[in-house]
Amino acid sequence: MFTSDKRYLITGASSGIGKAICCDLITKGASVIGVARSEDKLLALQNELKSEHFHYELCDLSKNLDTIPNMLMKLSKKFGKLSGLVHSAGIQEILPIRSYKKLHLSQLFEINVFSALFLAKGICDKRVNIGKGTSIVFISSIASITGSSGIVGYSASKAALNGMMRSLAVEMAPQGIRVNSILPGFVMTEMIENWKQIYNDEYIKEIDEKYPLGIGKPEDVAEPVSFLLSEQAKWITGIELCVDGGGHL
Ligand SMILES: NC(=O)c1ccc[n+]([C@@H]2O[C@H](COP(=O)([O-])OP(=O)(O)OC[C@H]3O[C@@H](n4cnc5c(N)ncnc54)[C@H](OP(=O)(O)O)[C@@H]3O)[C@@H](O)[C@H]2O)c1
Repeated sequence: MFTSDKRYLITGASSGIGKAICCDLITKGASVIGVARSEDKLLALQNELKSEHFHYELCDLSKNLDTIPNMLMKLSKKFGKLSGLVHSAGIQEILPIRSYKKLHLSQLFEINVFSALFLAKGICDKRVNIGKGTSIVFISSIASITGSSGIVGYSASKAALNGMMRSLAVEMAPQGIRVNSILPGFVMTEMIENWKQIYNDEYIKEIDEKYPLGIGKPEDVAEPVSFLLSEQAKWITGIELCVDGGGHL
């Protein structure tokens, strides 16, 4: 499905869904540059993968947004042009509306939305991408299209990401660049573990029973991402693909 001259930049590579995407792409024969802040975790992934086709770059994507396109330029000069990008880095905030401060929204939007725009700006530069066949995938959430208590800011950020995806898909189509969103449902990752006081065993059991196909694993999201990156998806752009075991139904 992939060859090592197909090179993908994956944000959020140190954990959860982003890490699973890196593993899936390497297994399928692609080259990957993983981006995150935690060097320990990226090194552990490199050791686990034992692949000369996996490289990583440390970056806090919330900071110095304007420099993100330069980072992509630098990486494409070092490793070769990029065939695609997956933005999986993201954070969640669980907070009732009465407790919101501007800072909460800023933090959510900086990593979930603003960094996505500057990553897209970077890869849409002709000097950085391979041209026709370049594919961008944003990891959004079913929270962008369904309602849940306590996540108004998170839902807004993921809906903003979808809106950006659709216009970018139209703007970049003349260059043969496709742009899509994947909307995962509840997937067991560190993001969920970080909110253990809310996502306790009882809550997880309830969700598992509510989803027609049960709760997902990071690998369940990685496979559809690889498909959207691949040539097999060459006529697909501008879609919001729910990957959620039917959780949005
Ligand atoms: N898990 C779910 O149920 C679920 C459901 C729907 C959508 N999603 C979405 O899926 C994506 C991945 O989530 P996950 O569950 O895999 O979460 P996770 O395990 O917590 O991973 C989040 C990743 O984002 C990176 N990250 C966070 N802030 C960053 C920053 N400022 N700069 C660079 N990297 C940063 C983290 O790396 P470092 O900490 O090393 O920087 C980590 O690799 C997110 O966008 C999330 O909103 C998750």
